[in-house]
Formats: sequence, structure tokens, C-alpha cells
Amino acid sequence: MTPTKTILRALNGEVQATPPVWMMRQAGRYLPEYRATREKAGDFLSLCYNPELAAEVTLQPLRRYDFDAAILFADILLVPQALGADLWFVTGEGPRLSTITDMAGVEALKPLDAIHETLNPIYETVKILSGALPAHTTLIGFAGAPWTVATYMIAGRGTKDQGPAHKLMQENPAAFDALMARITAATIEYLSAQINAGAEVVKIFDSWAGSLKGAAFTKYAVAPTVEIITALKARHPGIPIIAFPREAGDGYIGFARATGADCVAIDNSVDSEWAAANVQVDGCVQGNLSPTHMVTGGAELVSETRRVVKAFSKGPHIFNLGHGITPDADPDNVSRMIEAIRG
Ligand code: CP3
Repeated sequence: MTPTKTILRALNGEVQATPPVWMMRQAGRYLPEYRATREKAGDFLSLCYNPELAAEVTLQPLRRYDFDAAILFADILLVPQALGADLWFVTGEGPRLSTITDMAGVEALKPLDAIHETLNPIYETVKILSGALPAHTTLIGFAGAPWTVATYMIAGRGTKDQGPAHKLMQENPAAFDALMARITAATIEYLSAQINAGAEVVKIFDSWAGSLKGAAFTKYAVAPTVEIITALKARHPGIPIIAFPREAGDGYIGFARATGADCVAIDNSVDSEWAAANVQVDGCVQGNLSPTHMVTGGAELVSETRRVVKAFSKGPHIFNLGHGITPDADPDNVSRMIEAIRG
């Protein structure tokens, strides 16, 4: 049966005259109504764990813009927290977590079936959204990929080069592999529960995939993604999955074939024309306008948006930014981008 929602049609391999569009971080600090709701919730994590308010901020961008998808409002670092890591956010700096440095740290994590105790409010948010979205809007659930999540759990924060994770991988591969296995298993359960609650698509964010090269890319970016996708497709036949191995470079080539992903999201370090020739040949791609255009606007926003649409026009495409929209973006530029796509 052919799906009717535009995002699902693209994920089904259909080439559409106008690509469907949504935006990474479409609910976020560039919107004054988001900042107001976050204030009301107290802080970012309280907002993530408050189903009514999390659903509210998910819906806010849809009231301004006619996006084809909504993405669940949550964070990739809720999985480490559900596994027992301490997690907090330092304003202006980013996330902080208790660190994992050895096998004892991995073994001290909570058992797999304990994660839902923490994550139940997220499933509740998905349920609320699945009853509240406009009929043409697709609900996307998500999780971090094991490598990206591990980099935060090992370093206890975001790092430029993911050095602490690479160091543990080399110096204590048994502990590193055990941690990856724990995260992979938790991610399968977490995404499966989101799908049961009403997510129609799931996306796997591997934001730091670019720092894995050669055999390490295959072992720690491709293989865990294969494991997650295989398990989800077995439990939920037909569930479409988007994978985002950010800054993978040549690693994008064949990524969909290697992992079973229905769509590969492309970051904005990659030339759209290159991605059309080398990645879109295997199916749907998502991307890849630079988020800086949401700040700078002007004629270039329009011409670059049209260039991305044109570059991907011969195959299945979901229009998106190459990374999340930033807090300094001008909300009017989002309307201009959508106009340039559809106009
Ligand atoms: O896209 C969406 O609108 C859905 C919600 C979403 C958030 N984070 C909300 C958020 C999603 C999909 C994420 C994914 C995420 N979180 C990633 C992968 C994608 C990427 O950006 O590469 C990563 C690495 C994280 C971890 C994380 N969360 C960091 C490093 C930070 C701090 C940096 C920042 O932007 O402030 C966050 C905080 C965060 N996650 C915010 C939002 C809206 C900002 C929190 C705030 O309101 O202050």
C-alpha cells in the first residue's frame, strides 16, 4: 500500500516534485515560545520529562510553519541517564555526565529492563503527540547511536575530538565493547517503546561518526546501526529508519546498503551534488542546507535552498538542514526557506 504522508512516501522511495521538509532542532531556542515554555518547566531536563510540556514544544514550530514532520522533543543523553549515569546541563556550556572509565563502571550500570522507569514520560509524550498532530504530519522518534552516546558517557561531556572514547577503545577494548553493547541493547528497547507509543519513523543520530575511520567506522558506526535496525525491523516490520552518520565523508557511500537504513541524513560538510551521485543512488536522502543560512538569510538563503532541492530532485529526498538550527537563527528565515522549497 502506498503511504499518503509525504515523509513516508519519500522513505518508501518515491520521487516527489516538491520534497517534504522538516528541520533538526525545529523546537528550540530560536523560538521565543520555546524559551517561555522551558522557563515554565524549570530547566531543559525537566522539560524533556514533562510529557504535556514536551508535547507542547514539539507542536510549537508546527503552528508557525507547515512542516511535514514533527520530531519528538527529548535528548540523546536520556538513555545514559536511564542506565544510571548522572546527567545535568550547564547553561551556555552543554551536558555533563558522570564518567565511565573501566569495566567496573560499565557493570555498575542499571540492567536493561530498568531503563523504562526513567524513560516512561518520553513514551507518554509520543502518545500525546500521536493523537495531536495534523493528519499530514509524520511523527519521528529518535535516539543517539551507540558510538555518539558512548563518547559522552566516557568523557562526561562533549569533546572536540572524542579523545577519551578513542583512548578507552584502544586501552581497554573489553570495557569499551561492553559499554557499546549496553547502549546498543538499551537503544533497541527505547526506540521499540517509542514505536509502540506511536512514532512512525525513527532516526539514529551518530553526531560524532566522523571521528571513526576505516575499520573503526565499520565496527563502531556501521555494526551497531545494523544491530539496532535489524532488531527494530524484526519487531516492527516496515518501520522506516533514518540514519545520520554525521561527517562520515566517504563513509556515507553504501551506508544505507550496509545498515538497512531507509534514508541517510547528510550533513552540510558534504556537497549536495556529490551526495546525489554517491548516496542517493541507494535510496532516500535527507538534508543538507547549512544551518548558517537560517541566521544570515537574504538572497543566498533562497538560492542555496533551491540548489539543494535541485541537486536531489532526481531521487527520493527529504529536505532538512545539515545540522540543527542554532539559537541565533531568525524565525522568519525558516518561512523563507519553506517558500523557496515550495514556491
Ligand atoms: O531536533 C529536535 O528538535 C528534537 C530534540 C532534540 C534535542 N537534542 C533537543 C535539545 C534532538 C533530536 C537532540 C539530539 C542531540 N542531543 C544530539 C544529536 C544531534 C546533534 O545535535 O548532533 C546531541 C549530540 C545531543 C546532546 C546535547 N543536547 C547537547 C550537546 C546539547 C547542548 C548543546 C546545545 O545545543 O545547547 C543538548 C541540549 C539540547 N538538546 C537543547 C535542545 C533543544 C538545548 C537545550 C536548551 O533549551 O538549553
